Amino acid sequence: MDITVRIGNKTLKNPVGVASGTFGYGQEYAPFLDINNLGAIYTKAITPEVREGNPTPRIVETPGGMLNAIGLANVGLDNFISQKLPFLKKYQGATIVNVAGRSEEDYCQVVERLNGFEEVWGYEINISCPNVKCGGISFGTDPVLVESLVGQLRKRTQKPLIIKLTPNVTDITITAKAAVSGGADALSCINTLKGMLIDTKSKKPVLSNVTGGLSGPAILPVGIALTYQVAKAVDIPIVGLGGIMTANDAIQYLLAGASAVQIGTANFVDPTITEQVLEGIINYMKQEKLEKIEDFHQFLLA
Ligand SMILES: Cc1cc2nc3c(=O)[nH]c(=O)nc-3n(C[C@H](O)[C@H](O)[C@H](O)COP(=O)(O)O)c2cc1C
Repeated sequence: MDITVRIGNKTLKNPVGVASGTFGYGQEYAPFLDINNLGAIYTKAITPEVREGNPTPRIVETPGGMLNAIGLANVGLDNFISQKLPFLKKYQGATIVNVAGRSEEDYCQVVERLNGFEEVWGYEINISCPNVKCGGISFGTDPVLVESLVGQLRKRTQKPLIIKLTPNVTDITITAKAAVSGGADALSCINTLKGMLIDTKSKKPVLSNVTGGLSGPAILPVGIALTYQVAKAVDIPIVGLGGIMTANDAIQYLLAGASAVQIGTANFVDPTITEQVLEGIINYMKQEKLEKIEDFHQFLLA
């Protein structure tokens, strides 16, 4: 059985990774699980500058999930290189750096600076950030901006470029195809859905940012549907995520067309969940006599 996954010019040792923003830079989770068993760590987003993020409250539980409006709080590029990369270097899986910015130049700066570090396996490009030059609309909702950004990044790196799609669009296949035209190696599907909760006592929004991103089990069917739609529209690998809490959830993403998966919110519930998901995928492959990850795609996508 072969559980490796090819993305661009590189190979992941297994299809199970941890989602950006839910695993920090690995250090906090190391006491709880053997992080060497992960196929990939997708880091918390990195921007050129240090970011404090939004004022609290910035996280709240919802029925079947959670809302967050962290505001891309992160250690910034310099501190990432000096304080976080040395730890990540020791680990055997792929370190995929999640990149964010306010402009194309911000993204390019992060990618160019990290290119020389062998321990950086590739990049996941978070295109859900507002583009200052375009009046704050999100990169990820405008196919012209998506293609241009990915094209700029493609010129600057040979490492795998995984573009993380937002579900907050009318037709996700349009942005997916734009990312492919720009030169993406893979697509992550999906980021959080916009949501809001109101405190009925104070009659104010619960989050200081008013709205936040919904994640967790509530979004599982949305993520699976969008993965399936994207898989039918493009020919590059898809990394499926959104609401995966069990191996069975992950298997559904693989059947829908994903070649790898990420676990996000579930890490907060059970830090060892990734090990269980990987074991469940392997058991299912044995039981169903699937030899390799692409074999999952013969049932719904053929
Ligand atoms: C607290 C928190 C912080 C997040 N930060 C990021 C981030 O920095 N960059 C990013 O691309 N996605 C970020 N996400 C989105 C997740 O990576 C993931 O796309 C989303 O949570 C859906 O997966 P899940 O339902 O398994 O959590 C964050 C999610 C949460 C819950």
